[in-house]
Amino acid sequence: MHQIANALPDTLCYLDGEYTPLRDAKVSVLDRGFIFGDGVYEVVPVYDGRPFCFDEHMARLGRSLAELRIDNPLTLAQWREITTQLAGPGAKSAVAARQAVYYQVTRGVAMRDHAMPKGLVPTVFAMVNPMNPVPDAVRAEGVACVTAADFRWQKAHVKATSLLGAVLARQISVDAGAAETVMFRGEFLSEASSSNVWVVRDKRVSGPPKDELVLAGIRYGLLERLCADSGIPFDLHRVTRDEVFGADELLLSSATKEVLPVVTLDGQPIGNGRPGPIYQQLYTAYQDAKQRNR
Ligand code: PDD
Repeated sequence: MHQIANALPDTLCYLDGEYTPLRDAKVSVLDRGFIFGDGVYEVVPVYDGRPFCFDEHMARLGRSLAELRIDNPLTLAQWREITTQLAGPGAKSAVAARQAVYYQVTRGVAMRDHAMPKGLVPTVFAMVNPMNPVPDAVRAEGVACVTAADFRWQKAHVKATSLLGAVLARQISVDAGAAETVMFRGEFLSEASSSNVWVVRDKRVSGPPKDELVLAGIRYGLLERLCADSGIPFDLHRVTRDEVFGADELLLSSATKEVLPVVTLDGQPIGNGRPGPIYQQLYTAYQDAKQRNR
Protein backbone atom coordinates (compact mmCIF):
# COMPACT_ATOMS: atom_id res chain seq x y z
CA MET A 1 0.00 0.00 0.00
CA HIS A 2 2.83 2.36 0.95
CA GLN A 3 4.70 1.66 -2.26
CA ILE A 4 1.59 2.33 -4.34
CA ALA A 5 0.94 5.55 -2.43
CA ASN A 6 4.50 6.69 -3.09
CA ALA A 7 4.11 5.96 -6.77
CA LEU A 8 1.04 8.22 -7.01
CA PRO A 9 1.72 11.33 -9.07
CA ASP A 10 2.44 14.58 -7.33
CA THR A 11 -0.48 16.43 -8.93
CA LEU A 12 -3.38 18.43 -7.63
CA CYS A 13 -6.92 17.18 -7.81
CA TYR A 14 -10.28 18.79 -7.08
CA LEU A 15 -12.41 17.35 -4.29
CA ASP A 16 -15.58 19.04 -3.03
CA GLY A 17 -14.47 22.59 -3.65
CA GLU A 18 -10.80 22.22 -2.68
CA TYR A 19 -7.67 21.65 -4.71
CA THR A 20 -5.52 19.13 -2.85
CA PRO A 21 -2.62 16.82 -3.73
CA LEU A 22 -4.06 13.72 -5.36
CA ARG A 23 -2.16 11.41 -3.05
CA ASP A 24 -3.79 12.99 0.02
CA ALA A 25 -7.39 13.22 -1.27
CA LYS A 26 -9.83 11.08 0.76
CA VAL A 27 -13.55 10.33 0.66
CA SER A 28 -15.73 8.62 3.24
CA VAL A 29 -16.09 4.84 3.17
CA LEU A 30 -19.84 5.51 3.26
CA ASP A 31 -19.72 7.38 -0.02
CA ARG A 32 -22.27 5.71 -2.28
CA GLY A 33 -19.70 5.75 -5.04
CA PHE A 34 -17.60 3.38 -2.91
CA ILE A 35 -20.49 1.27 -1.60
CA PHE A 36 -22.69 1.01 -4.72
CA GLY A 37 -20.78 2.52 -7.64
CA ASP A 38 -23.61 5.07 -7.42
CA GLY A 39 -22.08 7.81 -9.53
CA VAL A 40 -21.13 8.97 -12.98
CA TYR A 41 -17.94 10.12 -14.66
CA GLU A 42 -16.46 11.78 -17.71
CA VAL A 43 -13.06 11.77 -19.40
CA VAL A 44 -12.11 14.85 -21.41
CA PRO A 45 -8.95 14.98 -23.52
CA VAL A 46 -6.92 18.19 -23.15
CA TYR A 47 -4.36 19.10 -25.80
CA ASP A 48 -1.84 21.84 -24.96
CA GLY A 49 -4.09 23.07 -22.17
CA ARG A 50 -7.25 23.18 -24.29
CA PRO A 51 -10.08 20.73 -23.62
CA PHE A 52 -11.41 19.04 -26.77
CA CYS A 53 -15.21 18.75 -27.27
CA PHE A 54 -15.67 20.05 -23.71
CA ASP A 55 -19.29 21.20 -24.05
CA GLU A 56 -20.32 17.86 -25.56
CA HIS A 57 -18.67 15.95 -22.69
CA MET A 58 -20.35 18.17 -20.11
CA ALA A 59 -23.72 17.77 -21.83
CA ARG A 60 -23.28 13.99 -21.56
CA LEU A 61 -22.32 14.35 -17.88
CA GLY A 62 -25.60 16.21 -17.39
CA ARG A 63 -27.53 13.40 -19.14
CA SER A 64 -25.80 10.73 -17.03
CA LEU A 65 -26.59 12.66 -13.82
CA ALA A 66 -30.23 13.03 -14.89
CA GLU A 67 -30.46 9.24 -15.37
CA LEU A 68 -29.30 8.84 -11.75
CA ARG A 69 -31.65 11.64 -10.58
CA ILE A 70 -28.71 13.65 -9.23
CA ASP A 71 -28.85 17.41 -9.81
CA ASN A 72 -25.74 18.66 -11.56
CA PRO A 73 -23.81 20.14 -8.62
CA LEU A 74 -21.83 22.63 -10.76
CA THR A 75 -22.46 24.99 -13.65
CA LEU A 76 -20.75 24.61 -17.00
CA ALA A 77 -18.55 27.58 -16.08
CA GLN A 78 -17.54 25.90 -12.80
CA TRP A 79 -16.66 22.65 -14.61
CA ARG A 80 -14.60 24.68 -17.06
CA GLU A 81 -12.83 26.48 -14.22
CA ILE A 82 -11.83 23.16 -12.62
CA THR A 83 -10.52 21.99 -15.99
CA THR A 84 -8.46 25.16 -16.40
CA GLN A 85 -7.09 24.91 -12.87
CA LEU A 86 -6.07 21.27 -13.32
CA ALA A 87 -4.97 21.15 -16.93
CA GLY A 88 -5.14 24.61 -18.50
CA PRO A 89 -2.12 26.44 -19.90
CA GLY A 90 0.41 26.86 -17.08
CA ALA A 91 -1.65 24.87 -14.56
CA LYS A 92 0.51 23.76 -11.64
CA SER A 93 -0.78 20.22 -11.93
CA ALA A 94 -0.52 20.05 -15.73
CA VAL A 95 1.25 16.78 -16.42
CA ALA A 96 1.85 16.59 -20.17
CA ALA A 97 1.00 18.16 -23.52
CA ARG A 98 -1.76 15.56 -23.85
CA GLN A 99 -3.82 15.12 -20.73
CA ALA A 100 -7.09 13.53 -19.77
CA VAL A 101 -9.20 15.14 -17.09
CA TYR A 102 -11.35 12.65 -15.20
CA TYR A 103 -14.50 13.99 -13.48
CA GLN A 104 -16.65 12.01 -11.08
CA VAL A 105 -19.87 12.83 -9.25
CA THR A 106 -21.35 10.39 -6.76
CA ARG A 107 -24.65 10.60 -4.90
CA GLY A 108 -22.79 11.40 -1.66
CA VAL A 109 -22.34 9.95 1.82
CA ALA A 110 -25.10 8.08 3.66
CA MET A 111 -25.68 4.93 5.73
CA ARG A 112 -25.93 1.97 3.37
CA ASP A 113 -29.40 1.58 1.91
CA HIS A 114 -30.18 0.76 -1.71
CA ALA A 115 -32.98 3.34 -1.83
CA MET A 116 -31.85 6.83 -2.79
CA PRO A 117 -31.70 8.97 0.35
CA LYS A 118 -33.05 12.49 -0.09
CA GLY A 119 -30.99 15.63 0.44
CA LEU A 120 -27.51 14.20 -0.02
CA VAL A 121 -24.65 16.43 -1.05
CA PRO A 122 -22.97 14.89 -4.11
CA THR A 123 -19.24 14.18 -3.91
CA VAL A 124 -17.43 15.95 -6.74
CA PHE A 125 -13.96 14.87 -7.78
CA ALA A 126 -11.66 15.66 -10.70
CA MET A 127 -8.08 14.70 -11.49
CA VAL A 128 -5.71 15.02 -14.40
CA ASN A 129 -3.65 12.23 -15.92
CA PRO A 130 -1.15 12.18 -18.74
CA MET A 131 -2.77 10.75 -21.86
CA ASN A 132 -0.22 8.52 -23.48
CA PRO A 133 -0.74 8.66 -27.23
CA VAL A 134 -1.06 5.37 -29.09
CA PRO A 135 2.51 4.79 -30.33
CA ASP A 136 3.01 5.50 -34.06
CA ALA A 137 4.25 1.93 -34.58
CA VAL A 138 0.96 0.57 -33.18
CA ARG A 139 -1.08 2.95 -35.36
CA ALA A 140 0.91 1.89 -38.41
CA GLU A 141 0.25 -1.82 -37.79
CA GLY A 142 -3.27 -1.63 -36.30
CA VAL A 143 -4.39 -3.62 -33.27
CA ALA A 144 -5.79 -7.07 -32.53
CA CYS A 145 -9.12 -7.41 -30.71
CA VAL A 146 -11.15 -10.31 -29.41
CA THR A 147 -14.93 -10.71 -29.12
CA ALA A 148 -17.13 -11.54 -26.14
CA ALA A 149 -20.79 -11.59 -25.22
CA ASP A 150 -21.90 -8.21 -23.88
CA PHE A 151 -22.74 -9.26 -20.33
CA ARG A 152 -23.08 -5.69 -19.03
CA TRP A 153 -26.37 -4.22 -17.85
CA GLN A 154 -29.15 -2.74 -20.01
CA LYS A 155 -28.26 0.91 -19.34
CA ALA A 156 -24.89 1.08 -21.05
CA HIS A 157 -25.73 4.60 -22.28
CA VAL A 158 -25.15 5.93 -18.74
CA LYS A 159 -21.48 6.72 -18.08
CA ALA A 160 -21.71 5.18 -14.62
CA THR A 161 -18.80 4.53 -12.28
CA SER A 162 -20.13 1.01 -11.66
CA LEU A 163 -17.85 -0.45 -14.32
CA LEU A 164 -17.42 -4.07 -13.24
CA GLY A 165 -18.85 -5.33 -16.53
CA ALA A 166 -16.37 -3.19 -18.45
CA VAL A 167 -13.48 -4.28 -16.22
CA LEU A 168 -14.28 -7.99 -16.71
CA ALA A 169 -14.76 -7.43 -20.45
CA ARG A 170 -11.46 -5.56 -20.80
CA GLN A 171 -9.55 -8.27 -18.94
CA ILE A 172 -10.65 -10.83 -21.56
CA SER A 173 -8.58 -8.94 -24.13
CA VAL A 174 -5.72 -8.34 -21.69
CA ASP A 175 -5.52 -12.10 -21.10
CA ALA A 176 -5.53 -12.67 -24.87
CA GLY A 177 -2.83 -10.05 -25.47
CA ALA A 178 -5.31 -7.94 -27.46
CA ALA A 179 -6.11 -4.22 -27.40
CA GLU A 180 -9.86 -4.35 -26.78
CA THR A 181 -12.85 -6.64 -26.31
CA VAL A 182 -15.52 -6.13 -28.97
CA MET A 183 -18.90 -7.08 -27.54
CA PHE A 184 -22.07 -8.45 -29.11
CA ARG A 185 -25.60 -8.67 -27.74
CA GLY A 186 -26.74 -11.81 -29.53
CA GLU A 187 -25.96 -11.24 -33.21
CA PHE A 188 -25.56 -7.48 -32.90
CA LEU A 189 -22.49 -5.37 -32.26
CA SER A 190 -22.70 -3.12 -29.20
CA GLU A 191 -19.28 -1.61 -28.44
CA ALA A 192 -15.92 -2.44 -26.87
CA SER A 193 -15.10 -2.36 -23.14
CA SER A 194 -14.12 1.33 -23.23
CA SER A 195 -14.46 2.35 -26.87
CA ASN A 196 -17.04 2.53 -29.64
CA VAL A 197 -16.68 0.27 -32.67
CA TRP A 198 -17.20 1.20 -36.34
CA VAL A 199 -17.36 -0.96 -39.44
CA VAL A 200 -16.30 0.27 -42.86
CA ARG A 201 -17.88 -1.48 -45.82
CA ASP A 202 -17.76 -0.19 -49.39
CA LYS A 203 -16.23 3.06 -48.08
CA ARG A 204 -19.23 3.67 -45.75
CA VAL A 205 -18.75 4.07 -41.98
CA SER A 206 -21.47 2.45 -39.85
CA GLY A 207 -21.99 2.13 -36.12
CA PRO A 208 -24.67 0.82 -33.78
CA PRO A 209 -27.64 3.12 -33.01
CA LYS A 210 -27.39 5.46 -30.02
CA ASP A 211 -29.78 3.51 -27.81
CA GLU A 212 -29.56 2.29 -24.21
CA LEU A 213 -27.21 -0.55 -25.15
CA VAL A 214 -24.14 1.55 -25.95
CA LEU A 215 -22.38 4.55 -24.54
CA ALA A 216 -22.81 7.22 -27.19
CA GLY A 217 -19.18 8.31 -27.30
CA ILE A 218 -18.48 11.96 -27.97
CA ARG A 219 -16.73 10.63 -31.05
CA TYR A 220 -20.13 9.53 -32.43
CA GLY A 221 -20.89 13.15 -33.30
CA LEU A 222 -17.28 13.97 -34.12
CA LEU A 223 -16.82 11.07 -36.55
CA GLU A 224 -20.16 11.87 -38.19
CA ARG A 225 -18.95 15.45 -38.77
CA LEU A 226 -15.52 14.34 -39.99
CA CYS A 227 -17.16 11.86 -42.39
CA ALA A 228 -19.51 14.57 -43.69
CA ASP A 229 -16.55 16.93 -44.24
CA SER A 230 -14.62 14.19 -46.06
CA GLY A 231 -17.56 13.02 -48.21
CA ILE A 232 -17.63 9.60 -46.50
CA PRO A 233 -21.15 8.11 -46.13
CA PHE A 234 -22.03 7.51 -42.45
CA ASP A 235 -24.98 5.77 -40.87
CA LEU A 236 -26.14 4.12 -37.64
CA HIS A 237 -27.92 0.76 -37.77
CA ARG A 238 -27.94 -2.54 -35.92
CA VAL A 239 -24.64 -4.02 -37.14
CA THR A 240 -24.50 -7.83 -37.36
CA ARG A 241 -21.62 -10.11 -36.48
CA ASP A 242 -21.31 -11.00 -40.18
CA GLU A 243 -20.96 -7.33 -41.08
CA VAL A 244 -18.20 -6.97 -38.50
CA PHE A 245 -16.19 -10.00 -39.60
CA GLY A 246 -16.84 -9.18 -43.28
CA ALA A 247 -15.88 -5.50 -42.94
CA ASP A 248 -13.24 -3.88 -45.13
CA GLU A 249 -12.03 -1.98 -42.06
CA LEU A 250 -12.89 -1.99 -38.37
CA LEU A 251 -12.25 1.05 -36.14
CA LEU A 252 -12.26 1.84 -32.44
CA SER A 253 -12.91 5.33 -31.11
CA SER A 254 -12.58 6.95 -27.68
CA ALA A 255 -11.25 10.09 -26.05
CA THR A 256 -7.88 8.42 -25.51
CA LYS A 257 -7.64 6.18 -28.62
CA GLU A 258 -9.04 8.90 -30.92
CA VAL A 259 -9.65 6.59 -33.90
CA LEU A 260 -7.69 3.35 -34.12
CA PRO A 261 -7.65 0.56 -36.75
CA VAL A 262 -8.44 -3.04 -35.77
CA VAL A 263 -6.72 -5.47 -38.11
CA THR A 264 -7.59 -8.82 -36.57
CA LEU A 265 -10.62 -10.00 -34.60
CA ASP A 266 -10.39 -13.33 -32.78
CA GLY A 267 -7.28 -13.94 -34.88
CA GLN A 268 -9.10 -13.46 -38.19
CA PRO A 269 -7.91 -10.66 -40.47
CA ILE A 270 -10.31 -7.78 -41.11
CA GLY A 271 -10.23 -6.78 -44.79
CA ASN A 272 -6.67 -7.20 -45.99
CA GLY A 273 -5.38 -7.21 -42.40
CA ARG A 274 -3.84 -3.73 -42.69
CA PRO A 275 -5.05 -0.29 -41.56
CA GLY A 276 -7.22 0.96 -44.43
CA PRO A 277 -7.74 4.18 -46.38
CA ILE A 278 -10.88 5.31 -44.50
CA TYR A 279 -8.96 5.00 -41.22
CA GLN A 280 -6.11 7.08 -42.68
CA GLN A 281 -8.55 9.74 -43.90
CA LEU A 282 -10.40 9.93 -40.58
CA TYR A 283 -7.23 9.95 -38.50
CA THR A 284 -5.87 12.87 -40.54
CA ALA A 285 -9.21 14.70 -40.25
CA TYR A 286 -9.20 14.04 -36.49
CA GLN A 287 -5.75 15.63 -36.13
CA ASP A 288 -6.97 18.64 -38.13
CA ALA A 289 -9.99 18.97 -35.82
CA LYS A 290 -7.62 18.99 -32.82
CA GLN A 291 -5.56 21.74 -34.44
CA ARG A 292 -8.70 23.80 -35.11
CA ASN A 293 -9.51 23.52 -31.37
CA ARG A 294 -6.92 26.26 -30.75
N1 PDD B 1 -14.26 5.44 -22.22
N2 PDD B 1 -17.88 3.14 -24.90
C1 PDD B 1 -17.48 2.94 -23.64
C2 PDD B 1 -18.05 1.79 -22.88
C3 PDD B 1 -16.55 3.82 -23.04
O1 PDD B 1 -16.17 3.64 -21.76
C4 PDD B 1 -16.03 4.89 -23.82
C5 PDD B 1 -15.05 5.89 -23.24
C6 PDD B 1 -16.47 5.04 -25.13
C7 PDD B 1 -15.99 6.18 -26.00
O2 PDD B 1 -16.55 7.41 -25.58
P1 PDD B 1 -15.83 8.80 -25.90
O3 PDD B 1 -15.68 8.89 -27.39
O4 PDD B 1 -16.74 9.80 -25.36
O5 PDD B 1 -14.48 8.75 -25.19
C8 PDD B 1 -17.40 4.15 -25.64
C9 PDD B 1 -13.46 6.39 -21.50
C10 PDD B 1 -12.37 7.00 -22.31
C11 PDD B 1 -12.99 5.75 -20.20
O6 PDD B 1 -13.80 5.06 -19.60
O7 PDD B 1 -11.84 5.97 -19.79
